[in-house]
Amino acid sequence: MPTQTTDPRGPLATATRPALSGRGLVKRYGTQHALAGVDIDIQPGEAVAIVGPSGSGKTSLLHVLAGILPVDSGAVLLGGTRIDQLGETKRSELRRTEFGFVFQSGFLVAELTAEENAALPLLLGGRSRSDALSAAREWLGRLGLSGKEKRRPGELSGGEAQRVAIARALAHRPSVIFADEPTGALDSRTGRATMAALLAAAGESGAAVVLVTHDRDLAASVPRTVTIRDGRIDAGATA
Ligand SMILES: Nc1ncnc2c1ncn2[C@@H]1O[C@H](COP(=O)(O)OP(=O)(O)OP(=O)(O)O)[C@@H](O)[C@H]1O
Ligand SMILES: [Mg+2]
Repeated sequence: MPTQTTDPRGPLATATRPALSGRGLVKRYGTQHALAGVDIDIQPGEAVAIVGPSGSGKTSLLHVLAGILPVDSGAVLLGGTRIDQLGETKRSELRRTEFGFVFQSGFLVAELTAEENAALPLLLGGRSRSDALSAAREWLGRLGLSGKEKRRPGELSGGEAQRVAIARALAHRPSVIFADEPTGALDSRTGRATMAALLAAAGESGAAVVLVTHDRDLAASVPRTVTIRDGRIDAGATA
């Protein structure tokens, strides 16, 4: 029997991915605490749903973990290395390489095709156009969008466009995908299907997922749920 040298899920699916951790995260807006001391660990490849009432600090937590928003105190660690103290150039490089993002409405570039949109982070990272487009097409295919690679966002349904955004978030093989209400603009059925596509694709890629949602049904499709209230993790919450 031949020895299998490559993982069919892709070269990085079995590579060691770094864990992402927040320690004592505090974020204030004026006198208001958006985060009042949050500790969280996200293991490599793990999917975590962050739920909680509106204004509880979910988006703030996601932005702090992703290095978009600076903390007032506490630390963010990726693979045990502090990333919250990096300068803006290093942080934006980290966001381009280690992280992928899916927002409520995909923020696709209207003038670009699906494959060009999905290839953007790779192109920004310096990959050749043909390389970037072929990786993008591979992810579009995995997300059920074969045949729609040349369409522009205006020629796709909302769910399809969001799957292009998922392909874009995954094409550069990030360690962590951050998704803030990624299905918020979709009807519940399309939302569930899109969520399933996101989790399956991230699983294939070996990427962890940090999903912010206030949809408890959607959160239930993710193995681990963390509840946040008034800027703190609610340890008593069961879901
Ligand atoms: N730029 C800002 N300036 C001032 N206050 C802010 C800012 N962003 C967030 N806040 C406040 O911080 C708190 C947490 O906000 P955050 O956006 O993290 O909540 P959320 O849980 O994501 O809510 P939602 O479910 O409505 O999106 C809220 O009280 C909010 O008003
Ligand atoms: Mg929010």
